Amino acid sequence: MPRKQICKVMNIAIFASGSGSNCENIIRYFRTSERIHVVLVVSNRPDAYALERARRLGVPTAVVPKGELNTPEGIMPLLKKHDTDCIVLAGFLPMIPDFLIDAYPQKIVNIHPALLPRYGGKGMWGHHVHEAVKAAGDTETGISIHYVTPVCDSGEMIAQFSTPISPDDTPETIAMKVHELEMAHFPQVLEQLWSD
Ligand code: GRF
Repeated sequence: MPRKQICKVMNIAIFASGSGSNCENIIRYFRTSERIHVVLVVSNRPDAYALERARRLGVPTAVVPKGELNTPEGIMPLLKKHDTDCIVLAGFLPMIPDFLIDAYPQKIVNIHPALLPRYGGKGMWGHHVHEAVKAAGDTETGISIHYVTPVCDSGEMIAQFSTPISPDDTPETIAMKVHELEMAHFPQVLEQLWSD
């Protein structure tokens, strides 16, 4: 009789600085997965609503201020304790230090609320992105899911999804369209990426 193939479990740590709607969506999506588990939510901010969402869903949380994130002693034991295989940045603002990128090669993924390489880099986060897209008069925007490298918003692209912008759209309605794409696609892309 052929032996049943044993698939490797992937344990995800989500890093989030803000509201955490993506964080919650990912936790909910994988709650019934046998293969992919969200084992930890990390924030640099103690007041990040992402932490509250995680707590409500029974996921362990930790606050790691920027200074601690930048030292191996400040972050590595925590990730090891939770058997972390990969990291998802879901609205996480601090830069990821090189030692962490080296420790998780091609295993740290970020979501950016625009079609990179446009509207990426320093200062391009949240409403700043959508205001820049509106000011440029673009006819489409979208989301970019990519690997994290030491250079902000510039790692290898995994997937992009776009949505049209009409002249009536405001930065707020653009943000809503982008949010819809995030909710519809981010967990599925992670599942495909880590299901082999
Ligand atoms: C999202 O728009 C994401 O693309 C960006 O930060 C935002 C986080 O939103 N990187 P939330 O905290 O998940 O609600």
